[in-house]
Amino acid sequence: MSYCVDLKENICEPSSWRLCIAPMLNWTDRGCRYFHRLLTRRARLYTEMVTTGALLHGDVAHHLRFNPEEHPLALQLGGSEAADLAHCARLAQQWGYDEVNLNCGCPSERVQRGAFGACLMREPQLVADGVKAMRDACTLPVTVKHRIGIDRIEDYGFVRDFVGIVAQAGCETFIVHARNAWLQGLSPKENREIPPLRYEWAYRLKRDFPQLRIIINGGVTATPAALEHLSRLDGVMVGRAAYHDPWWLACWDADFFGDAQRPECDRQTIERAMCDYMAREAAQHGTPWPAIARHMLGLYNGLPGARRWRQVWSDHRLKDRSAHEVMALAHSLRVSQAGDAL
Ligand SMILES: Cc1cc2nc3c(=O)[nH]c(=O)nc-3n(C[C@H](O)[C@H](O)[C@H](O)COP(=O)(O)O)c2cc1C
Repeated sequence: MSYCVDLKENICEPSSWRLCIAPMLNWTDRGCRYFHRLLTRRARLYTEMVTTGALLHGDVAHHLRFNPEEHPLALQLGGSEAADLAHCARLAQQWGYDEVNLNCGCPSERVQRGAFGACLMREPQLVADGVKAMRDACTLPVTVKHRIGIDRIEDYGFVRDFVGIVAQAGCETFIVHARNAWLQGLSPKENREIPPLRYEWAYRLKRDFPQLRIIINGGVTATPAALEHLSRLDGVMVGRAAYHDPWWLACWDADFFGDAQRPECDRQTIERAMCDYMAREAAQHGTPWPAIARHMLGLYNGLPGARRWRQVWSDHRLKDRSAHEVMALAHSLRVSQAGDAL
């Protein structure tokens, strides 16, 4: 695991990008990240995309507040103006983030209207200027998350040139969502499913730019596939599978980082820790527990009684009860449903 020791942005440990949880709008908010951090101490976490406009004109604390437990944590920015990106990179550093990441992969129409996200891949020099401005404004690693092409461009040279130009501005870490973004005619959801995955192009990037850190993203749902990518690349970023199947994360530290198994890490202990967190968030910020509990609904997936447990935690009629009371109810019903199944 000495592959990145000579890079200056190696802030935590050589393996710090080895496993990452993807930025996901409306999903990876601070409550979700707190939950993921209970399951894996090592994976690198990413915020949802925050636009430069939201930070320039909106409530900065609302967007940037996070729990100290979340480290290592990257702030993902959406934007294209160098001066705005620089301002936001400075904020990222002031707020204590470990990395600032630029989104060059989002295909949504709203993002295209703002002229950022995936359409930035057409303008690598603009991205390079933004990266340089961010690097000048802070000492955090500045990274880029991108696709392998846009629309019907099926030419490896397109992504190779993009990475080459942006790397010249000082970006050392590229997160490659290994499929095209089709900017016309597909919804963001379809854009995560229909354009074919081409992992080989990420491998080629690593061969062409061995000094860069290349992290693969897209369609990784199980440990063997992640290990296969890790034998060729510097890291793996997991999105939907981490969200829908959170218990998978509980073996990451052992399987990918060689840590000892944590005996205290069972589902109920995690759930109880989430209840404590929900109680704190309610007391300190008025956050209702359903806004946090929604992220952990997959915790018992595949186990007897999981459906009843999930129904209780999704029942908004219980919103005036405390999280600990809801947990007690969810468990009594889970156990009785599991008993019925026997
Ligand atoms: C609900 C949702 C929201 C997403 N929001 C973002 C985002 O804010 N920024 C970003 O770069 N990618 C976003 N993505 C894309 C993911 O980061 C990731 O690239 C994509 O889901 C492919 O990885 P996966 O196959 O492991 O899920 C989002 C994906 C989902 C499912």
